[in-house]
Amino acid sequence: MDDNKLQLIASTGSIPAGKTQCVTVDGQEILLCHSKEGWYAIDNMCSHAKARLSEGKLKGCKVLCPLHGAAFDIRDGAALSKPASIPLKTYPLKITGDDIFIVL
Ligand code: FES
Repeated sequence: MDDNKLQLIASTGSIPAGKTQCVTVDGQEILLCHSKEGWYAIDNMCSHAKARLSEGKLKGCKVLCPLHGAAFDIRDGAALSKPASIPLKTYPLKITGDDIFIVL
């Protein structure tokens, strides 16, 4: 892996388990998710009508849109329920010590 393409986005102590945080990388809002299965990063904008998923809830490995309730799998971005049908982009992460890097 080319480490020049890693960008530090958060520290592991800054987000409790079961919570999310919106980070902006190159002008793009990305939702960093701390699930019980680990850390994942997914686009913050719902693919249905552009609500911010950072205002929704994380339930296990699903994030729920605050506007119309669509669920997305934070592991692969899959749209799991209506009204959303378009998957969201996910981003690989690398964790070194307490530092969380996004792989660009
Ligand atoms: S904006 Fe997210 S489900 Fe409609």
